[in-house]
Amino acid sequence: MSDLTGKVALITGASRGQGEAEARLFVERGAKVVVADILDDDAQKLVADLGVNNAIAVHLDVSKPEEWKQALAAGIEAFGFIDILVNNAGTYIQGSITDTDVDGYRKVIEVNQIGVFLGMQNLAAHMAELGRGSIVNIVSVSSFAPLDLTAAYASTKSALLGMSKAAVGELGPKGIRVNMIHPGGVATEMGAPARVVPAAYDQAPLGRIGQPREIATVAAFLASDDASYCSGAEILVDGGWTVGTRNPWASEG
Ligand SMILES: NC(=O)c1ccc[n+]([C@@H]2O[C@H](COP(=O)([O-])OP(=O)(O)OC[C@H]3O[C@@H](n4cnc5c(N)ncnc54)[C@H](O)[C@@H]3O)[C@@H](O)[C@H]2O)c1
Repeated sequence: MSDLTGKVALITGASRGQGEAEARLFVERGAKVVVADILDDDAQKLVADLGVNNAIAVHLDVSKPEEWKQALAAGIEAFGFIDILVNNAGTYIQGSITDTDVDGYRKVIEVNQIGVFLGMQNLAAHMAELGRGSIVNIVSVSSFAPLDLTAAYASTKSALLGMSKAAVGELGPKGIRVNMIHPGGVATEMGAPARVVPAAYDQAPLGRIGQPREIATVAAFLASDDASYCSGAEILVDGGWTVGTRNPWASEG
């Protein structure tokens, strides 16, 4: 069980879904957490639940450079430093290449791609001053095995592969580790809208959709000192989905 005592994490998109699960687990494991999201009411409710000594809520639209500066300053004022960044916030659109509106596509780039870049840009200098830091980028199996009708979303997630790997070499000498998680289907607003879990998840080798806490436990590991020699790691958390295609001839023995 990875211990996060004495650490301070800024988690984007932490008001619900996987980010909320990460915030809850990180506090359980001893960290202080900056709950950063555009859903302010949900962020406040979560902080009330976590305890005001353990967490603060900050309004952060990850695509806005000035809001990153404010979030960083608020976190440092509350807890003294931030040595973990979980770039979790994300947005999704689905549609054919023919029908995808270019402004919608640009919006996905702003959040999923520019948002992660700004996160690393704003935290890197602070972490370099500390001489330590762990950045966990929540990517997706879509980055290397995209489904059809996801060109906009998948392309932003593929961009995170290159961006994260470039950061590994740049930030490593400053004591900052950068790692990636590739979730498969996870039961959140994004992965199972309106709580409807598509039957297709039955086809994953583990036969079900993932739960947000199952991503959070991996994020906690990468954020912790248990992963002190991990940088540039990509951890698949997809129930075997992308490697476990079932044998179509299995029933024929
Ligand atoms: N759910 C899945 O099946 C799945 C699979 C692979 C990867 N992911 C990735 O996991 C991450 C978390 O997604 P989730 O499943 O919890 O979805 P979710 O929709 O439940 O949560 C996303 C969170 O991001 C926040 N957010 C959106 N735009 C933002 C912005 N501009 N600034 C700050 N916060 C913003 C939302 O308010 C929300 O709290 C995302 O990066 C997503 O792409 C999800």
